[in-house]
Amino acid sequence: MALKSLVLTIAIMAVLSSMSHAGEPSPLQDFCVAVDDAKNAVFVNGKFCKNPMQVVADDFFESGLNVPGNTSNPLGSVVTPVNVNQLPGLNTFGVSLVRIDYAPYGLNPPHTHPRGTEVLTVFEGTLYVGFVLSNPGPNMKNKLFTKILHPGDVFVFPIGLIHFQFNVGKTNAVAFAGLSSQNPGTITIANAVFGSDPPISDDVLAKAFQIDKKVVDYLQSQFWWDNNI
Ligand SMILES: *[C@@H]1O[C@H](CO)[C@@H](O)[C@H](O)[C@H]1NC(C)=O
Repeated sequence: MALKSLVLTIAIMAVLSSMSHAGEPSPLQDFCVAVDDAKNAVFVNGKFCKNPMQVVADDFFESGLNVPGNTSNPLGSVVTPVNVNQLPGLNTFGVSLVRIDYAPYGLNPPHTHPRGTEVLTVFEGTLYVGFVLSNPGPNMKNKLFTKILHPGDVFVFPIGLIHFQFNVGKTNAVAFAGLSSQNPGTITIANAVFGSDPPISDDVLAKAFQIDKKVVDYLQSQFWWDNNI
């Protein structure tokens, strides 16, 4: 009996410990510079790892984040990412970085990062930012948290939640943000819902949004700009 309950306890602890590792795993070696082909690759951990003997300082280096992004687009914002796809040395480390530029009244539209929490700081300008909760309880359902940010202010957007930033100033704004994933992903809500390829059935969207199918068809005929370069 005692043995049975010990085995049960160990099994429960194993399950809990695997749940606590739901994020990216800790690195298994000093580094694992990502390469796209298996030639010369020695370990596999998400992406192939470059042979450590061939790794150079530039594998851990990226430049150009001092250059403003081009915000001449319908949203008036642009995200310049530095994740594992731009900086292969980030592979297995569970972090990445973005620069975000906003024209006056530019918007980084409601979106989520399915794999990363984001901590953002403003360098220039004034941003109205916010995120929306899921529905953890009857009194918290889709609660919205917002804040006006000025240079030097920091705000955090929890993993997976819908969030946005809107430049409410008359000048350009610049922010930098760190994300808790080497490849956090971005789902822009309007683009995913109304700009999917192929389109979602308008019966589905008319009912989901409680709007006329004609409105759905209009929205689906629009070009949904992606401000992630
Ligand atoms: C910015 O993008 C617009 C629209 O694509 C383009 O016309 C313009 O030349 C670009 N500006 C720069 C500085 O690249």
